[in-house]
Amino acid sequence: MPTTPVTVTATASAAVDRLHFPPGFLWGAATAAYQIEGAVAEDGRTPSIWDTFSHTPDKVANGDTGDIACDHYHRYRTDVTLMSHLGLQAYRFSLSWPRVQPGGRGPANPAGLDFYRRLVDELLDAGIQPVATLYHWDLPQELETGHPDGSGGGWTERETAERFGEYAALAADALGDRVALWTTLNEPWCSAFLGYGSGVHAPGRTDPALALRAAHHLNLAHGRATAALRATLPAHAQIAVSLNLHQVRPLTADPADLDAARRIDAVGNRIFTGPMLSGGYPADLLADTEHVVDWNALIRPGDEAAIGAPIDLLGINYYTPAVVSAPTPGAAAAHHAHGESAHSPWPGSADVNFHAPPGDTTDMGWTIDPTGLYDLLMAVSRSHPGLPLAITENGAAFPDAPTADGQVRDHDRIDYLHRHLAAVHQAVADGADVRGYFLWSLLDNFEWAYGYDKRFGAVHVDYATQLRTPKASARWYARAIGANSVPH
Ligand code: NOJ
Repeated sequence: MPTTPVTVTATASAAVDRLHFPPGFLWGAATAAYQIEGAVAEDGRTPSIWDTFSHTPDKVANGDTGDIACDHYHRYRTDVTLMSHLGLQAYRFSLSWPRVQPGGRGPANPAGLDFYRRLVDELLDAGIQPVATLYHWDLPQELETGHPDGSGGGWTERETAERFGEYAALAADALGDRVALWTTLNEPWCSAFLGYGSGVHAPGRTDPALALRAAHHLNLAHGRATAALRATLPAHAQIAVSLNLHQVRPLTADPADLDAARRIDAVGNRIFTGPMLSGGYPADLLADTEHVVDWNALIRPGDEAAIGAPIDLLGINYYTPAVVSAPTPGAAAAHHAHGESAHSPWPGSADVNFHAPPGDTTDMGWTIDPTGLYDLLMAVSRSHPGLPLAITENGAAFPDAPTADGQVRDHDRIDYLHRHLAAVHQAVADGADVRGYFLWSLLDNFEWAYGYDKRFGAVHVDYATQLRTPKASARWYARAIGANSVPH
């Protein structure tokens, strides 16, 4: 990442035909270990909660698993060549915790670390900046289900945060001489609330109190990892976290709808940004959820200070906005009367109504709305002045298929990227300090509970043959990178 703020300077001609990004703006693409690597039992790797979950019937579409995925573990060299052809300046990938430290405790696994050393060396040789994420959802299974010493419980237990700090130190020790930008957690909201609240992600538990406990321990894990990285990395290295901040919009200006938006903003966003960036948990979040969990027992003295260790950059993952309205009167009581358990990912606010925003949708059913990205960047800039930002994920799934000539003409993805990059450009022009953009994703890959059905890649993957075919969007993105601009 550039180390000084960047500003938009438009030349007269550039202003006419292209939107130019500031010099030094960093263009990249992102992936995650379990979604692409495969090789789940090689070189000492032990199972993660996603191995267990994906092998459990009815958890993932079509029974898909990450056993082979894009076979990137064996094909990383050709994948780095692909990245070179795209002109990527940076590549964001995640380390598989159970590959680096099998079982999530004890010494590092040299063979696991060697894979990431080889990958990073290949990237550096190609002139591509490596950006390492420590945790993209693949918790070592042993930390979830237990160990002979009686520990376990995954993110619902404080011990997991301590283990994560130790793992971060091992990773930084091995790779800190060549990886200059690190992110601790990817989308901890999903880990906590989809993993332990709605149960649609691993480990598939469904208890709102456990989801809140998980959120606190993920926050603490971020703090412990930040301290470990700071202590181990060279001074120029930068530390970040990637949050899927929800751009929450009230359905109407009615005070009840505004309050619904406030509640979702609290448990969707400020539960992380509060302690990480603003000195502690917000009082309204604690009040909204005090009947769900005993925060006083959960938060120990010193926790909020540890979580608030300064970071250098905030990574934002954005796909679509959320529109919410006040709970329907009587809905909560009706739920109880019918004994329904909705398994909501919104503890304390399960009765808030969500509405599909207007507009076209992607293959995920997510509304395409770049104004959400612009509004989010401006709001975060206002709440956290002086904190550099990067888009660490943005992209879209469409049902891409090669035509008879072998080409994938994904014009809908080009349109999505174009409009969202224009929104980023506008935010930069209006003062947001955005240092870079990472397209999700380099490759089609294992889209969690949706399996391989949903294709987010700029590069098409034929899973039967592992053939990679750059889509039209890959060529469009390469041109944007080369020109440091997108069409007007
Ligand atoms: C966010 C997650 O970080 C990533 O793993 C996922 O594939 C994309 N969103 C798309 O859902």
